Amino acid sequence: MNIVLLGFMGTGKSSVGERLAKRLGMRYLDMDEVIEEEEGITVREIFERYGEPYFRDKESEICRRISTLDGYVISTGGGVVLREENMDCLRKNGLLISLTARPEVIYKRIHKDKTRPLLQGNPIKRIRELLTFREPYYRKADLLVDTSSLSIQEVVERITMYIIEEMGYGDHKG
Ligand code: S3P
Repeated sequence: MNIVLLGFMGTGKSSVGERLAKRLGMRYLDMDEVIEEEEGITVREIFERYGEPYFRDKESEICRRISTLDGYVISTGGGVVLREENMDCLRKNGLLISLTARPEVIYKRIHKDKTRPLLQGNPIKRIRELLTFREPYYRKADLLVDTSSLSIQEVVERITMYIIEEMGYGDHKG
């Protein structure tokens, strides 16, 4: 079984994912990092050089490979939810957890970061538009955690409690 973190940019998937993996004694994998390693350039450069469809195809390919893994906490890119085939692969052996946050909170967390290709121009407007469109997709997860006013550690604990209670997993760290 894997634990798959879904959610918009800036909801905390990578920070939470790394700590959650440690907390549960699982391995950690960041999908965007895998893509960057395999392509040898950043996500932003992939968008610029080859366009978004190329990136999305690469993302889908990683999802197919992930469905053969076991025992991983996986942080996804914010747009992974848009393709049904991705969700089918991730759900095959994964518990899906969506991290959410209010648009203003997302803006505050990421407005200084210029690495995100989809937020060029007017970021708060783009965040609102994309969030409105994507919300139903993020809602397909097994659990939603609003991270707007929680610390990374609090999010990790909330997810850990859910896994212990709902899935009947043992708590490896006592
Ligand atoms: C994207 C989110 C990014 C990255 C790419 C596209 C999106 O990942 O995959 O820029 O469509 O929301 P993060 O959510 O980790 O920033």
